[in-house]
Amino acid sequence: MERTLSIIKPDATKRSITGKINAMIEEAGLSIIAQKRLILSVVQAEEFYGVHKERPFFRDLVNFITSGPVVVQVLEAENAIALYRKTMGATNPKEADKGTIRYEHAESIEANSVHGSDSSDNAKIEIDFFFTDEEIVG
Ligand code: CMP
Repeated sequence: MERTLSIIKPDATKRSITGKINAMIEEAGLSIIAQKRLILSVVQAEEFYGVHKERPFFRDLVNFITSGPVVVQVLEAENAIALYRKTMGATNPKEADKGTIRYEHAESIEANSVHGSDSSDNAKIEIDFFFTDEEIVG
């Protein structure tokens, strides 16, 4: 079994579609084994998205992800990282396949409703960023 870190982003929490997204996650065969709702501070967001700090969209990304509540989650399945990336669809919703979370719900490349870890190393770093072992109930 593998674990990945998911974030339901502020555009989705504002529209009260956390439940709809969770249903798509569970229907894809991913178990939600930890979950909490919080508002990221600017410092936390800058650290979480540190790999993107040289990108032109970095400041907008930090402003967006701190603009409202997020729901952070640990998802578990066989091949959870790849499975969740398939379930989310492409980063840019215009390129996302029909039936994916981003095709159905995302508003733009920035307000794209969900984040998922992109590798096993990053999944571990990102899960540890938000959760203690006791908060994850597999
Ligand atoms: P996420 O998977 O959370 O990781 C970084 C985020 O940067 C990405 O999703 C997008 O929402 C956001 N982003 C904003 N603008 C761009 C862009 N031009 N290219 C890639 N990602 C972008």
